[in-house]
Amino acid sequence: MIVRALNSGLRKVPVWVIYIFLPVPGVVTFYLGLTGGLGAEPIKALEQALGEFTLNLLVLGLSISPILRFTGLNLLRFRRAVGVMAFTYVTAHFLTWLILDLQSANQIFADIKKRPYVTVGFLGFLLLVPLAVTSNNWAVRSLGRFWPKLHSLVYVAAILGSLHYIMLTKGFQLEPLIYMAVIIAFIAARMPKWRRSLARK
Ligand code: HEM
Repeated sequence: MIVRALNSGLRKVPVWVIYIFLPVPGVVTFYLGLTGGLGAEPIKALEQALGEFTLNLLVLGLSISPILRFTGLNLLRFRRAVGVMAFTYVTAHFLTWLILDLQSANQIFADIKKRPYVTVGFLGFLLLVPLAVTSNNWAVRSLGRFWPKLHSLVYVAAILGSLHYIMLTKGFQLEPLIYMAVIIAFIAARMPKWRRSLARK
């Protein structure tokens, strides 16, 4: 009953709302960086915040189909916009590293090669590029049944993103491990065998 009411309310929410509200935390963080509100190392803080927003949006995007399956709440209409916003954040994260952190084009490949966590993050970013390019209606129509297959790459990108986070944290920290565990749980929920046993329960 409640889920049905929520779904009928959600059907009235236009998708553009996602494109208006999801950039807000990024814009606010950037503004804080410019105005001295991000502490002693604003570039690092901005880079880290954009990385976290990216991971949160990837997890949010991946959660949409398990939420539908297990609760009936239908957020599918918003999934593509959430994916596009995740790509926007990872691009901003990447550009912060490239323009504000490295500040030298010669350093790009040296840094990617030297720091394994940057290599892993960069691979995750590269995997998201074809997904962003094919996130329009024309690509969905032309790619047909290949489109969902191609977009399954988001699982690999999310794993790489969370691995990147685990690799860059010093000492034991629970948060990056939780991200990885949640992503693996969403992947497991997609497996037909698990899906059947969860549905039985
Ligand atoms: C799927 C792609 C990616 C995801 C999900 C991601 C996510 C993250 C997260 C969660 C953090 C840590 C935030 C924190 O400490 O609270 C981070 C930090 C960072 N990421 Fe990424 N990232 C991605 C791609 C990249 C790429 C492409 C680069 C550069 C080539 C990059 C470079 C960095 C750097 C330099 C840091 C900061 C390390 C520090 O604390 O000094 N990331 N990223």
